[in-house]
Amino acid sequence: MLDRELNQWASSGVEGHFDTENAWYTYHERMREPLGKLIGGKTHEVAALNSLTVNLNLLLTTFYRPTKRRYKILVEEHLFASDYYAIEQQVKLHGLSAKECIEFIPWPKENKGFSLEIIKHTIDKLGESLALILLPGVQYINGQCFPIQAIVESGHNVGALVGFDLAHAIGNVDMKLHEWQVDFACWCSYKYLNSGPGGPGGIFVHENHLSKDLPQMAGWWGNDPDERFTMEKAFIPVSNADRFQMSNPSILALAAHEAALAEFDKTTIRDLRKEAKRLTNLALKGFENLDIHVITPIEWNRRGNQLSIELNNAMEVHKALREEGIVCDLRDKNILRLAFCPMYNKPEEIALLLERLENLMK
Ligand SMILES: Cc1ncc(COP(=O)(O)O)c(C=O)c1O
Repeated sequence: MLDRELNQWASSGVEGHFDTENAWYTYHERMREPLGKLIGGKTHEVAALNSLTVNLNLLLTTFYRPTKRRYKILVEEHLFASDYYAIEQQVKLHGLSAKECIEFIPWPKENKGFSLEIIKHTIDKLGESLALILLPGVQYINGQCFPIQAIVESGHNVGALVGFDLAHAIGNVDMKLHEWQVDFACWCSYKYLNSGPGGPGGIFVHENHLSKDLPQMAGWWGNDPDERFTMEKAFIPVSNADRFQMSNPSILALAAHEAALAEFDKTTIRDLRKEAKRLTNLALKGFENLDIHVITPIEWNRRGNQLSIELNNAMEVHKALREEGIVCDLRDKNILRLAFCPMYNKPEEIALLLERLENLMK
């Protein structure tokens, strides 16, 4: 698919936008349907564009509109640093300070996972001062899957908007963003979606917002496609999530993204979840036998493919596993994050991992 696009570029140059069945002008539209299936969003609520932090900034510009009374943003204590930078600067752009505006849900004691009761209690306590909640679908350190629907309900009850960073959730856990009334979400495609390094990000914006005259950042690719090349000085936003597109996208990145999404179209997230349960349960059993402490909540509805384990010698283990071709990720010196990808990981690989871990812990 990459070759196809490079050949098109060689033979047509700019005309490749129109004179091919894979016309670049509308190429991004092909991602909507498969992405919509993965997150439970309607096709017009979804767009593939930019990268995660860029999209988060775009969405915050639109959805964080602080007033004198309602100006706080609620996040969790160990949110991904890039998300924090985006939020902090957005707050400053409004002439406010991070200290007065950003509230944190504290990291769960004894690494037991965030409890919904504490999240709800915090939301209720902030009440009318709360403008926005931004939480992960799956927390990147402990792999915990957040109860999205209950959080949205709770946020909406106090009049706040609710958005999610789905970097570690998309392609991993089952979601119904439209039905759950999530206001907005963003993600990257280079984790479970396998679209290649730096692959395109994506957004979901609930249709409740799309027809409105939203304050937003803009560019020609978010303009009505029929008017896009007329170069008129009036922004007519597309009536779907594409209105947040600014630039013409990298077709090479989208081609790889399309190829990766086609793999998901051959199966369902439900079937992938079934296989993930089998694989992760095998790993959990092995960790228990080796007396390895798992910080991911082990109940199946509170996690996906990621298991995070705590080891005193995590740095050495990480290095040794890498030397043997087992790639995992080191966090905070003593946490190893392991993702068991149901699309291609096999029980034999888990057995191998457990065998290596046992040797390394002797
Ligand atoms: C949870 C989370 N948020 C944000 C990002 C930043 O992504 P990007 O570099 O695509 O902006 C990442 C990247 O790994 C992430 O894991």
